[in-house]
Amino acid sequence: MKNIAVFVSGGGSNLQAIIDGCASGYIKGKISAVISSKEGVYSLERAKAADIPYYVFAAKDYPGRDSLYDDIIKLLESLEIDIIVLAGYLSILNEKIVRRFPNRIINVHPSLIPSFCGKGYCGIKVHEAVLEYGCKVTGATVHFVDEGTDTGAIILQEAVEVREDDTPQRLQQRVLEVEHRLLPYAVKLLCEDKIVIEGRKTRIL
Ligand code: GRF
Repeated sequence: MKNIAVFVSGGGSNLQAIIDGCASGYIKGKISAVISSKEGVYSLERAKAADIPYYVFAAKDYPGRDSLYDDIIKLLESLEIDIIVLAGYLSILNEKIVRRFPNRIINVHPSLIPSFCGKGYCGIKVHEAVLEYGCKVTGATVHFVDEGTDTGAIILQEAVEVREDDTPQRLQQRVLEVEHRLLPYAVKLLCEDKIVIEGRKTRIL
């Protein structure tokens, strides 16, 4: 069984999808920690309800990003974490944590990377930009995390049709439904060592 840490910053609907996947046995792993960049977010209620230890590491409590991630790394090492899942985590990891967990950190992004990703593209802004551009399709991506922002190798992608009467909120909702399926599937694959990485490309066994 792999030990999983899920990083969050908000409502945690993706966290819930992973909690449910572990509970049903679909994911052969155990969530040993939920790590939030903010106090008071609903993700922490979800962790509590599932009896998962949770921790808040807020940037405002640290003099710098490096000291914050030094503390997070210490915690992850003490818990013997194998896999990190970024599920709506709004901070950018530093190089040290990325190097400490090579090909062991994944993220879900609510667009078809490399469109509408990178710095500034988060939350509802992504869907606003998709509609403003006039795209006919968007989607969700699960990818490995490297030192860049949304630049790591892609694991899974699924398209979502943009409708003429879409609002950013409606589009976000339909993309989220896809995320809730793709992310647990990627976590399941990673827990079973079924993802092969060849340069920028990945292959599922
Ligand atoms: C998701 O759309 C995710 O792709 C993005 O932030 C949102 C988080 O939603 N990075 P939730 O907190 O999992 O409900």
